[in-house]
Amino acid sequence: MGRLDGKVAVITGAGGGMGREAALLFCEEGARVCVADVDAEAAAKTAADAGDAFAITVDVAEPESVREMYEQTAARYGGIDVLYNNAGISPADDDSILVTEPDAWQRVQDVNTKGVYLCCKHGIPHLQRRGGGSIINVASFVALVGAATSQISYTASKGAVLSLSRELAVQFAREGIRVNALCPGPVETPLLLRIFGDDPAAYERRRIHLPMGRLAKPREIVNAALFLASDESSYVNGTTFLVDGGLTAAYVTPE
Ligand SMILES: NC(=O)c1ccc[n+]([C@@H]2O[C@H](COP(=O)([O-])OP(=O)(O)OC[C@H]3O[C@@H](n4cnc5c(N)ncnc54)[C@H](O)[C@@H]3O)[C@@H](O)[C@H]2O)c1
Repeated sequence: MGRLDGKVAVITGAGGGMGREAALLFCEEGARVCVADVDAEAAAKTAADAGDAFAITVDVAEPESVREMYEQTAARYGGIDVLYNNAGISPADDDSILVTEPDAWQRVQDVNTKGVYLCCKHGIPHLQRRGGGSIINVASFVALVGAATSQISYTASKGAVLSLSRELAVQFAREGIRVNALCPGPVETPLLLRIFGDDPAAYERRRIHLPMGRLAKPREIVNAALFLASDESSYVNGTTFLVDGGLTAAYVTPE
């Protein structure tokens, strides 16, 4: 018996990183999954590897594209139970506020903030039709703690995801729709490894602040998403769901 038997989940950004890992795990646990990504080839590969899944090309910043993603999922699987709004970007030109130009700021806001807004806006009516569901909006630990090595638009976008999620959680609770903001700590995925590049000092500067002394593995974050997607979390709503290895609790770490 799978923990997601009978459920239909739409996972954005499922072509790579944590989204891909989530698609594999959710299918293992009995869900049928829409693997959505702006990268068609990556989405197709995840869907082929996952099992009961299909791939769709989506740009979460485009309303029509998002609407179509849900229409196709509902037509194929008969409804939708879980929205896992995971797609996000962290480009190199989003940096300190002193050097980040408005176009870089806007690109990040379009994907990370507007994308989550659109995925909730067009996804919630499907959950209402089903009589309830679970929404997992991916924020980040950076919504809670500041860094001197800033990515100003990314950080602002994750703060927006956090407060937007809280509001939706309150608004739709009596319709059986739960909304939680999943806040990972730093995770070993292409998004973060791109930032470190081949600069061991940049990695070490961050590692020292981690009580566990290491990054998270994608599966360690996605296990929390599995809980939030399943009925085991039926009274978990409106949370800042931190999976950060103790990072935001730390003052002095062991080193
Ligand atoms: N990696 C970390 O350390 C970390 C920490 C906290 C939060 N997060 C968040 O977790 C989520 C997943 O991150 P990841 O590390 O797995 O990233 P990743 O870069 O490995 O994967 C992100 C996926 O999103 C897709 N994508 C990008 N723009 C898109 C768009 N407009 N529409 C649809 N898909 C799009 C990419 O093609 C890619 O497959 C993001 O929201 C990220 O901000 C990551």
